[in-house]
Amino acid sequence: MKFKITFVLFVLICLTLFSQNNDTKKNDPNAFKLEHAQIGFVEDNKASYKRTEHPDAQWFPDAGFGMFIHFGICSVKQLDLSWPMIAGMKIAQFKLDSAEVKKVMASGDYFIRNNCKDDNTCVTPIEYWEQAKYFNPTNYKPEEWAKAAKAAGMKYMVFTTRHHDGFALWPSKYGNFNTKNYMGGKDLIKPYVEACRKYGLKVGLYYSGPDWYFNKDYQDFMYYKVRKIYPNIPRLDENLQVRTSEKSEVEKQAHYDEVALYIKGQVTELLSNYGKIDVIWFDGAPDIPKGNKSWKKCITMDEIHTLQPGILVSPRFFGYGDFKTFEANLSKQVNKQTGWAEFCSTVAQWTWAITKVPLKTTTALLAEFIQSRSLNMNYLLNFGPTKEGVINTDMTNRLTEIANWMKVNGASLTDCTALSDAETATVYATAKKQHRYLFLLADKKYENIQLTGTEEVKTVTLLATGKNVNYSFENGKLTILEKDVTRTALADVIDVELK
Ligand code: GLC
Repeated sequence: MKFKITFVLFVLICLTLFSQNNDTKKNDPNAFKLEHAQIGFVEDNKASYKRTEHPDAQWFPDAGFGMFIHFGICSVKQLDLSWPMIAGMKIAQFKLDSAEVKKVMASGDYFIRNNCKDDNTCVTPIEYWEQAKYFNPTNYKPEEWAKAAKAAGMKYMVFTTRHHDGFALWPSKYGNFNTKNYMGGKDLIKPYVEACRKYGLKVGLYYSGPDWYFNKDYQDFMYYKVRKIYPNIPRLDENLQVRTSEKSEVEKQAHYDEVALYIKGQVTELLSNYGKIDVIWFDGAPDIPKGNKSWKKCITMDEIHTLQPGILVSPRFFGYGDFKTFEANLSKQVNKQTGWAEFCSTVAQWTWAITKVPLKTTTALLAEFIQSRSLNMNYLLNFGPTKEGVINTDMTNRLTEIANWMKVNGASLTDCTALSDAETATVYATAKKQHRYLFLLADKKYENIQLTGTEEVKTVTLLATGKNVNYSFENGKLTILEKDVTRTALADVIDVELK
């Protein structure tokens, strides 16, 4: 008996270790928190900023569904956007012991992260940036993305105009690393904005606060968390070599000023040259220490509102904004949101740009969508176009399946809210006027389905078919048995209409 238990434990431990080594990010629920810390995103809960009341911005909480696009030079080698240039992520995530870390440092092998060795995607920052020379999306048709987004019931789009890797997808006057010096000055933002407008989608521009290219002479390319664990580990330069010299305080201060003016210039271009912009989706703070006097020279919230009075601002630059952003895992700990909120997630299992990482199933994507809406959040689903600029067939198939599901079930996820505090359900649920929508996820079995605290029921039907569903109703409690619901391959929605 004892031997059996020990053996089972041994197998379990081996399995855990094996799966951890196989996909770092997926198994580390904190990976995205570490990334946020690296890009300086800290929520400022004391800020006095109040959410925008501009009439043009009030579409957000009802929107429900949006398309995120992560695109850039990284699509050339099918690397994820920006992160592959940062060394040592596995050191941080697996907390190697100091002997192992010494070994890694002695060998100069910093690529022990994100399985890059398995699929030959290990690059230094310099090698990563080289992709800019070969980046030339020959089939760049954001209209196709917008058309597909619209067909799936999406209401807005957000596009990475410049990610942490620093390559700006328009010919900016500020900085050198943008299409002004590559691709013959082509502007990828303009057709994107026009495409959104053509399909009646709100226009969102993603812009990263950190820019690891502009900051490259000051930047440590070792994952910041590694330094937290091992303070004496050497700083790495853009060739992932140990930095041999450091900048002086005077040089650093002058650089912070340059960073501020550069960001102000680029953000002003984005908010001036393309007409009305509905969302500026900042991701991370600029590479200037908090409290440093150069911060004031960056773009301010007031300046943003002067350029675009009806805009929504994500909270990841200033630490505050018009909505909260959630990411990676909506575990049970996330509460129903009372303010405006958005959950962004990826169609691939854990990368943002186009990579070889397998995709999530449509069942899993719908589960995320349903969960987001039941918690009062929009669902911003990310796609990574190929180097040609196309959303590939596999991703398109996922989106088409969602679109088909939305055609008959979309009413349950758009223009709705979470249940009020007076009502509770044993399944994910949303509310719209006299309707309550109860969701049965495809891969789940339900004993009985209950909605409590509600008014008298008028009808209970399957949203997709309009067919009646048996139910009982007593003392404000509605009960439905799963056996009375005809289940389909994807999630099923029960439409409860109240009197
Ligand atoms: C994280 C990642 C970034 C990604 C963003 C989208 O902050 O750092 O790569 O663009 O999430 O939410």
